[in-house]
Amino acid sequence: MSGSGLGPIVDPSQLSCPTTPVSWAKDVAPLFTSRDTAHMLQVTGGRLDLSNAQSTEIWAYKVYGYVANGYMPPGNPWTQAMVNTFGCWIQGGFQP
Ligand code: HEM
Repeated sequence: MSGSGLGPIVDPSQLSCPTTPVSWAKDVAPLFTSRDTAHMLQVTGGRLDLSNAQSTEIWAYKVYGYVANGYMPPGNPWTQAMVNTFGCWIQGGFQP
């Protein structure tokens, strides 16, 4: 895939991921705070809902690019482990 232009680490296909596929409900949903969800609903006019798997999947590469380069959440960057969990959810085909 092409990069977002915001940083070099935007391709999750090269990540080394766990054999048990990353799950939305168990692993990914807990990464987002209610504040994250509320802000992004507001910023996108309701289009990006980080509490909803289908919505987050649509935006997944943009979300991954932004959290990977520390642009989101603003001022409070994710750890590498959190970033990798999200990337492995993409790589694993968005398991529920
Ligand atoms: C993990 C949490 C977050 C993720 C994954 C995320 C993701 C994103 C994405 C994908 C966009 C681009 C929207 C577009 O292209 O239309 C964006 C923009 C934006 N986000 Fe977030 N966001 C997060 C948390 C937050 C929080 C907590 C705030 C506010 C305190 C915030 C404020 C903004 C603002 C102001 C923009 C639009 C301006 C800009 O692009 O800089 N976000 N975010």
